[in-house]
Amino acid sequence: MIRSASNAPCFVGTWSFALPALEAGWSCLGEDELAILDMVERACAHADANPAVDSVGFGGLPDSSGVMSLDGAIMLAPDRVGGVCDLRHHLHPVSVSRRVMDSTEHSLLCGENADRFADRHGFERRSILSSEARTAWESWVDDRHGRDRGATQDLRPVDPGTSSDGRLFRPSSLDGAAPAGHDTIGVLARDRGQRMAAGCSTSGLPFKVPGRVGDSPIVGHGLYVVPGVGQATATGTGEMISGVCASFLATEFLRRGASVVDSATETVRRVDETYELEPHHQVAVIVMDCDGAISAAALRPGFRVAIVEDGRREVLDPDVVLHPEDGMLPESAIEGLAKPTNTPNPEES
Ligand code: GLY
Repeated sequence: MIRSASNAPCFVGTWSFALPALEAGWSCLGEDELAILDMVERACAHADANPAVDSVGFGGLPDSSGVMSLDGAIMLAPDRVGGVCDLRHHLHPVSVSRRVMDSTEHSLLCGENADRFADRHGFERRSILSSEARTAWESWVDDRHGRDRGATQDLRPVDPGTSSDGRLFRPSSLDGAAPAGHDTIGVLARDRGQRMAAGCSTSGLPFKVPGRVGDSPIVGHGLYVVPGVGQATATGTGEMISGVCASFLATEFLRRGASVVDSATETVRRVDETYELEPHHQVAVIVMDCDGAISAAALRPGFRVAIVEDGRREVLDPDVVLHPEDGMLPESAIEGLAKPTNTPNPEES
């Protein structure tokens, strides 16, 4: 299990690139609701600003027309949630989402109007497409002649570990059939008062059909929090996560008495039962119960979980991988890539 029940605060997130983001958010740990929201917002913003992370924020890859758009959400409870999708001119979707949650009666704003809302609330308008992402898109256009269905058929996120540069989007030379991946930072925080909060930020599927929105900004899909029960976040192929309302489902299993391990496993199993898996598909979920126990499960190898708590900074494999034999990279591809790493606590070194 990623973590046994404990009243101590903790912070967990999807993929090894979440580790420095969680560390940044951890510095906001405090006693009140604002502090736990600060933790989530700061962590997601840290990942957004990291140009090396090619699936979130400024390092993310654009849609098939070369336009970048970002999705995100933040949640404390079913009646305390905000999200934005198809944000084109602001870098931090979770920060704008928090403003949606705090200053409107709504839970989701999209597109131009989400950008206008961010303008009105004083968020800086800026370019969110990096020159590297633009170059990657130009190569993709050259390779694929811009087919209008996104590049989904051979993309699968694979996490090379913490000593890599944060890229899930892998060069094709590494594993032949799976040249690329995408994904989300999803974080689950628990504070000293046992309060819970979740957040998600993503640039979505690389080279997606313009207008496509995945699971991350949608309540119950990319994230869900039930105070007094638990919370969950999902990552991977957004359409499959949305199809089973994965984060809602995971917390519903918890609400009905399942353990965190069973909740995570059964959620991923539901995806597996619902869809005919294609090589690019991956879904993973992290589940935390209100006692602080944490588990994670994935359809396939290649997903990792980052965790930060007092005295612990670590990246771990999920407890359960439904198809461990499925889609492993050839040895030649793994050589030279980082293995799962325990990253030292900077405060201890
Ligand atoms: N899981 C992120 C997305 O599919 O957009």
